[in-house]
Amino acid sequence: MIIRKLNKDEHPPFELLLSADPSLEAVEKYVERGESFVAEQGGEVIGVYVLLPTRPHTVELVNVAVSEGQQGKGFGKQLVMHAIREAGKEGYQTIEIGTGNSSIGQLALYQKCGFRVVGVDADFFIRHYSEEIFENGIQCRDMIRLSQDL
Ligand code: COA
Repeated sequence: MIIRKLNKDEHPPFELLLSADPSLEAVEKYVERGESFVAEQGGEVIGVYVLLPTRPHTVELVNVAVSEGQQGKGFGKQLVMHAIREAGKEGYQTIEIGTGNSSIGQLALYQKCGFRVVGVDADFFIRHYSEEIFENGIQCRDMIRLSQDL
């Protein structure tokens, strides 16, 4: 697998991006304002992430996704570790990520990659999404905020 920056003239892998965030409006904004990276294997895009500058010296890792047939093989962890290295190379001091309270696998993955929980944005998903979201039998209501120093 190779991970590379997506050129500005290339079409972003929207289907994959939307598997990490069902809001097309949000995804379009992230892609426009951030830097997208894709993971390719055998000429096919199997993964994606976006680095979104937020505050001075801080970048947020958004829309990490691996295509369904390729999940559980370590690619997600490779993408997150790549994003952390890339953010450091680009001179950022802090990398942040947010995920739902019901996203148990993601919370495990991010903590395995060195992120620490730093806060909770209560009822974020109730305020920002019109549809109710359920995962692992849990309603997704709160955004768990995680961060790590670079
Ligand atoms: N409990 C404990 N650990 C868990 C876990 C759980 N319930 N679920 C996953 N993990 C661990 C894995 O064991 C692995 O750790 P290890 O390498 O130490 O064994 C790690 O998390 C990630 O595994 P990996 O195979 O690299 O992940 P992946 O390739 O399946 O990618 C996602 C992870 C989240 C990117 C992928 O599932 C995906 O694209 N999901 C849909 C989009 C999405 O939800 N994006 C995130 C939005 S916040």
